[in-house]
Amino acid sequence: MKAALVTDLEKVSIQEVDEPKIRDDEVLIKVKTVGVCGSDLHLFRGTHAFRKPPAILGHEVAGNVVEIGKNVKTVKIGDRVTVEPQYGCGVCEYCQQGLVNLCSTKVVPGTAKWIGVFVEYFNAPEITVHKLNDEVSYKMGTMIEPLAVAVRALRKSTVKEKDCLVILGSGTIGLLTLVVAKQMGYKQVVCTDTAEFNRDMALKHGATLAINPLESDIVDVIKKLTNGRGADLALVAAGANNIVDQATACVRKRGEVGIIAMITEKIPFYSYQIVINELTMYGAMTYETKDFKEAADMINNGLDLSDFITQTMDLEHTQEGLDVLSQKKEHVVKVMIEL
Ligand SMILES: NC(=O)c1ccc[n+]([C@@H]2O[C@H](COP(=O)([O-])OP(=O)(O)OC[C@H]3O[C@@H](n4cnc5c(N)ncnc54)[C@H](O)[C@@H]3O)[C@@H](O)[C@H]2O)c1
Ligand SMILES: [Zn+2]
Ligand SMILES: [Zn+2]
Repeated sequence: MKAALVTDLEKVSIQEVDEPKIRDDEVLIKVKTVGVCGSDLHLFRGTHAFRKPPAILGHEVAGNVVEIGKNVKTVKIGDRVTVEPQYGCGVCEYCQQGLVNLCSTKVVPGTAKWIGVFVEYFNAPEITVHKLNDEVSYKMGTMIEPLAVAVRALRKSTVKEKDCLVILGSGTIGLLTLVVAKQMGYKQVVCTDTAEFNRDMALKHGATLAINPLESDIVDVIKKLTNGRGADLALVAAGANNIVDQATACVRKRGEVGIIAMITEKIPFYSYQIVINELTMYGAMTYETKDFKEAADMINNGLDLSDFITQTMDLEHTQEGLDVLSQKKEHVVKVMIEL
């Protein structure tokens, strides 16, 4: 079968690979759509923490079940599905609490233990499979994975007030966080992005304001909007040298700052803000199965995110898909590959 691999720095090639064989607890999925994610860009640019070329791309997927292992009970041939792209050892202290995302030996696609999803046929353990309703398109099914990231980032916050949220960075993750925040009842959501197209997208999807952090002082804007108080929560969904400081400076006393962005370099950070205002900071790493299920329920109940799919291409054009997202020369949020 065909697969799209990153073979060198910023170089994708389509190669023939063996079709995966399923274990007794797995299903085989004929892949219909896959999404290009920010973390695929880390592999593409050589900045990924542990994935190095050559590696098959991708972890966002939807398709049809075409074969099931003999122990599979809840999924049948013909089911339209998406996959939570992680599973844990099941026995460590984190797995026992449902925190598969934190399992030190968790298995993720595109590694020696599990093929990436940019392939014609993808195997997945039954426990990772989530069904799609008949009305849900494969593309929307593929959006469940990044939506689950947004669900978790917001669910991890413990602030009770929902008067003002700041989302720094309005790419796929920031925009999906905006959508979930509106559903959760945040009254005012201020988004930032350096790209005008992304700011416009944020405004279209309910942001109170969309700010270019290179042109306006985000802290001034938030203070004016909240009568000097500050935002209840700020979520960092982009990487920049000053972005964590921006986030801590715009939240109120006892507010929270959640970091979603994978910022792998060391960036300066002014801890004094945290102390004098008694702020709480947290990280949000992918999702637990319950977050993924919540995202799947939102899509199965009709949430339409098709506006965010700005480019669709076929597997042969995967190189172009990654180039578009990496270079941002054209308007882009989510790039999808259709097989
Ligand atoms: N924690 C997790 O589990 C998880 C999951 C998925 C993605 N991520 C990370 O989240 C981040 C966002 O992912 P994405 O897919 O939305 O990426 P993306 O590249 O689509 O979006 C990033 C956005 O940030 C904007 N931006 C750049 N500099 C900025 C600045 N200084 N201030 C505000 N905006 C700025 C860009 O214009 C872009 O629109 C990435 O770092 C990604 O690796 C984390
Ligand atoms: Zn993703
Ligand atoms: Zn574990």
